[in-house]
Amino acid sequence: MRISIAQASSLLNEGQVVALPTETVYGLAASLQDPQAIAHIFTLKGRPSNNPLIVHLADASSLQEYVTVMPPGAEALMEAFWPGPLTLVLSVQADRVPALARAGLPTAAFRLPRHPLTRAVLEVSGPLVMPSANLSGRPSATRPEHVEEDFGTHFPVLDGGSCQKGLESTIVIFRHERWEIVRLGALDAESLAAVLGYRPGVAENQKGVQPVCPGQLYRHYAPRAKLQIAQPIPADATGVVLGFSERSYPVRTTLWPLGSLSDPETVGERLYVLLRKLDEEKIASAWVDGDMPAGGLWETIRERLQKAAI
Ligand code: TXA
Ligand code: MG
Repeated sequence: MRISIAQASSLLNEGQVVALPTETVYGLAASLQDPQAIAHIFTLKGRPSNNPLIVHLADASSLQEYVTVMPPGAEALMEAFWPGPLTLVLSVQADRVPALARAGLPTAAFRLPRHPLTRAVLEVSGPLVMPSANLSGRPSATRPEHVEEDFGTHFPVLDGGSCQKGLESTIVIFRHERWEIVRLGALDAESLAAVLGYRPGVAENQKGVQPVCPGQLYRHYAPRAKLQIAQPIPADATGVVLGFSERSYPVRTTLWPLGSLSDPETVGERLYVLLRKLDEEKIASAWVDGDMPAGGLWETIRERLQKAAI
């Protein structure tokens, strides 16, 4: 069910969960101050309770109401990239962010989305928690139809069209005196480096150690179709190849173009659309051309494809 900004705000106010567009992916929103609605998000998504949610704010200045310390560089990152696809993990005052939303951690993740419709809702409703609007494990929703695929056509969705980025926000945390990327995303490491003056490392989850980003432990972004990443695609391959428009592929395959090797933004925008299309068309298995450039958004695209193929 498509809803207006006013309907979204009043449903949130009544304690309901609604889907909202952001520039990255659609989110399932609940009011930050409504633990019951937050609990409902976990149930709807089938999300493990130890996987915390991102708090979405209407303005950067309200961050001060939640956090205990602002690490060096935080202001510069916010200044450069908010509103936009960057999420900061910060230490919070325990009584300001419901424990359920942060999965009991002493930190919470914060972001200021850019999409005008959702900003309008945030202005009225106040801070919202929003995980991606997909069933846990499925590719994120980047179009209103994707939300309806996962939650049914009666589910309330504020229709903001196709998401501009099509990939989730980049998540960073300040540890050991440096900012580190805990989830690659729509903002690339090079852009962060330009502001920080150094290139942030990418934190790996280590066995036996408390994960820095719990969500990275779970199977993710995956269609039902079995994906096989190959480089190159074997000459006797058949079926669908998710590949690049300037390449040719084995004769018995069908190319579903991810886009051009010179345009990672378009590839990012199409990625989940194509992964979901595999399921819509009931395709059981497909190939992915794993030979793509290094650096920039390609690192995020490669990571998402690897996770989708596990
Ligand atoms: O682009 C996005 O970030 C989208 C849109 C809707 O804003 N949201 C999104 O949320 O991707 P979700 O729930 O699908 O992913 C949030 C990730 C999870 O991997 C979670 O573990 C991590 O953020 N996270 C949340 N709070 C955290 C914290 N305090 N410390 C470390 N990781 C955290
Ligand atoms: Mg997600």
